[in-house]
Amino acid sequence: MPKFNSKSALAISAVLAAQLIGGAAIAAEGDAVKGEKVFKKCSSCHMVGEGAKNKVGPYLTGIVGRAAGSIEKFKYGKSLAAAGEAGLVWTEEELMEYLLDPRKYLRAKLDDKKAKSKMAFKLKKEQDRLDVIAYLKTIEAAE
Ligand code: HEC
Repeated sequence: MPKFNSKSALAISAVLAAQLIGGAAIAAEGDAVKGEKVFKKCSSCHMVGEGAKNKVGPYLTGIVGRAAGSIEKFKYGKSLAAAGEAGLVWTEEELMEYLLDPRKYLRAKLDDKKAKSKMAFKLKKEQDRLDVIAYLKTIEAAE
């Protein structure tokens, strides 16, 4: 009987610990100042702000809340264009997943194992993604 008690106490504390960790992840916020540095990784392909033009990728001014695949003069890949036509909007949540792995994201989104991404760049660290999205949000506010 005491053996059983300690085991279940252990199980309960494991659940509590998991909830604490989960809660911390949800509460995590991006830092726009750090995000500006993270954006250097994007800037070989993307511009933001005043006078921003398309480069290898479309310009990203106002990207948070912007419809996917919506920059007219940019030639998107078929899969991203299709997601945009289906009504995809780049919310913070969508961007968190897209930036982790664009191709995987599009495959899941379109339910198409052959979907492709013209963006072959992954931003794996969660905090980097949170930070860069926080930075991109400030770009919209400045416009
Ligand atoms: C090597 C070049 C390259 C890098 C680096 C890169 N991207 Fe991209 N990005 C692209 C291309 C190309 C597309 C168009 C994708 C398509 O059509 O499938 C794109 C598309 C996007 C889109 C969708 C835009 C829209 O109008 O729907 C977002 C958002 C985006 N990139 C964000 C980022 C961010 C943030 C970073 C840095 C963390 C980054 N990208 C790094 C090339 C790049």
